Amino acid sequence: RPRVLSGIQPTADSFHLGNYLGALRSWVEMQETHDAFYCVVDLHAITISHDPAQLRRRSLVAAAQLLALGLDPQRCTLFVQSQVPEHPMLSWILECHTGFGEAGRMTQFKDKSAKNERVTVGLFTYPVLQAADILLYQADAVPVGEDQRQHLELVRDLAQRFNTTYGRTFTVPSPYIVKETGTIQDLAEPARKMSKSASGPSGIIDLLEEPARIRKKIKSAVTDTGREIVYDPENKPGVSNLLTIFSTLAAVPIVELQNRYEGKGYGDLKKDLAEVVADFCAPIAERTRSYLDDQAELDKILLAGAEKAHAVAARTLAHAYERIGFRQPL
Ligand code: TYM
Repeated sequence: RPRVLSGIQPTADSFHLGNYLGALRSWVEMQETHDAFYCVVDLHAITISHDPAQLRRRSLVAAAQLLALGLDPQRCTLFVQSQVPEHPMLSWILECHTGFGEAGRMTQFKDKSAKNERVTVGLFTYPVLQAADILLYQADAVPVGEDQRQHLELVRDLAQRFNTTYGRTFTVPSPYIVKETGTIQDLAEPARKMSKSASGPSGIIDLLEEPARIRKKIKSAVTDTGREIVYDPENKPGVSNLLTIFSTLAAVPIVELQNRYEGKGYGDLKKDLAEVVADFCAPIAERTRSYLDDQAELDKILLAGAEKAHAVAARTLAHAYERIGFRQPL
């Protein structure tokens, strides 16, 4: 079976619809076809200022949500990054093979460093740690949203560079980005992506949100001029975004939705979509709460995941140490 690895940051109280449609949906699917490793990346979460108690809780809520979305610990390896010591160890090696200018070209770093007052070295080396996450598991594919494409290019470059310099060590991974849902737009500002750091509350749908609030947000989503319900992301980003969300969650092709709403207004579309999204999120919130109710069980799942991940990561790290000329790690 081909190997897959992906990660998500525990930097909010809930994942949002963009996370799900852009990436997590593929995570759930790929556990059936791949040897899958999925990681709550709490090391990445401290690249911006954080609160320790909140981070501890959010990592658990993140894991509970992933299980609620359908990750099955029998079918995939689910773990928290800080519990597997090899990640920062390989990251250091890769940092020493990353150009300063190369890291400085990462657009996510440029955006985040422009917005934050406190810009740390960790924020700068963030994508190199991401490379370590992926390369430790010899992943063939990495399911992510479109915004991770540039980071994945860097990961491929680093893997190739290392292999060329020291001999074949790492699998060169490919991004797995679903074209239709790779970028879900902000509901209030459909020209930009839905984002936990940049979107205001009316632009983002959290999976754990109250159904009444979800309905309200969908109903007040910004649509475009004109009346026609057609998929045209260039000229009608608002309506097209709603059609993408509708089509994916309800498993109805977009053309069929266009036919269904021919001659009808944006209000009709939004009213129906509000139900679809609320119905999708309610059981996830419910299941998340029930996973969180049994924290001992959750801890057990994450410990077992970390042990499985550690076994694979330690093997790769030992190989990389050998290549580099280090003595073997303990
Ligand atoms: P993060 O935590 O910001 O986001 C998790 C996943 O959600 C996707 N995503 C979106 N997809 C579509 N539309 C949107 N509006 C949207 N917003 C977010 C992201 O592309 C991502 O796939 N750097 C990563 C975390 C990471 C990682 C890794 C990923 C660390 N190590 C190793 C893959 C492999 C990040 O910040 O994701």
